[in-house]
Amino acid sequence: MRIEEHPILGKPEVRRTIEFTFDGKIMSGFEGEPIAAALRAAGVMVHRYTKKNHSPRGIFCAIGRCTDCVMVVDGKPNIRTCITPLKEGMTVQTQYGVSAQK
Ligand code: FES
Repeated sequence: MRIEEHPILGKPEVRRTIEFTFDGKIMSGFEGEPIAAALRAAGVMVHRYTKKNHSPRGIFCAIGRCTDCVMVVDGKPNIRTCITPLKEGMTVQTQYGVSAQK
């Protein structure tokens, strides 16, 4: 689901592929890209569920303003994945409510 060639920007530069886990599954992405971009490329649309209604949320603003993309990253809840760079071995989990607890 990645853009392989953009009509204006051209082809993206070659980047190092790394592995991370999403809800226990091993996935891959490009080092330094936003976590949300790697998840989107893998078809993951839901990043969290709201506390009150348990409604699914995912990328909305993509610039770090809305908090819809927050997830539990390396055990820390409320990480804005649209602006957090992906690193080798990261543990990314769907967030339920406002904490790391289900
Ligand atoms: S999508 Fe809005 S803060 Fe990440």
